[in-house]
Amino acid sequence: MNIILLGPPGAGKGTQAAKIVEKYGVVHISTGDIFRKNMAEDTPLGKKAKEYIEKGLLVPDEITVNMVKDRLAQPDCSAGYMLDGFPRTIPQAESLEEMGQKIDCALDLEVDYSMLIDRISGRRMCPDCGASYHIKNSPPKKEGICDKCGAKLYQRDDDNEETVKSRLKEYDEKTLPLIEFYQKKNLLLKVDGNGTIEETTANVYKALDSFK
Ligand code: AP5
Repeated sequence: MNIILLGPPGAGKGTQAAKIVEKYGVVHISTGDIFRKNMAEDTPLGKKAKEYIEKGLLVPDEITVNMVKDRLAQPDCSAGYMLDGFPRTIPQAESLEEMGQKIDCALDLEVDYSMLIDRISGRRMCPDCGASYHIKNSPPKKEGICDKCGAKLYQRDDDNEETVKSRLKEYDEKTLPLIEFYQKKNLLLKVDGNGTIEETTANVYKALDSFK
């Protein structure tokens, strides 16, 4: 299965992506994670991406598309993949088609905007293994420490109120049109993401199982 995961910032894409990988064994490709890794390593790509990410803006299509194209060319993707955070614009979606990639479904995680700020502001990340937590909804066993590898958790630089506002604006203007784009192609699967993490996972599994 080749899956696209859609949804606004903080909807729970990364959280559900981990559950999808667990059950369906697809390769998880998160453009946000790839950018953050490059920023942490201070690579030329990371430096460029940082200019946009710290302002809550999308990284230009050309940079993002080339990065995804390289990743999809790696042999592990041939057994099935899940794109988390890509495409995010119509030109990115068109580029994916031009690459000859066959997409089986675009799963849209629907969450009320009123819940997104709480989810984003409570998020804590592990710098070493990438695990994600929430101070109330999904806390680590020991406050501030990753359950999986023991590293000290941190808050993403772009998880502040001002940047989140511009990320939501970018989503509304540039990413929302993808819902119609994939609906017209009969590839859209809408999933209610307003419940708990476990309830949402059950909804995601049900949608993907009925689709397969
Ligand atoms: P990216 O990392 O993709 O950020 P995002 O889309 O804004 O999404 P988030 O990572 O904020 O949220 P999520 O939906 O994964 O939620 P999560 O599962 O963590 O991109 C970052 C930036 O990179 C972009 O702003 C852009 O600049 C750039 N970029 C990336 N891709 C790009 C592209 N294709 N083109 C151009 N630029 C690109 O959950 C959030 C929190 O809520 C967690 O704490 C979690 O524990 C909690 N939570 C999750 N689900 C639930 C639930 N059901 N109930 C309660 N709490 C929950």
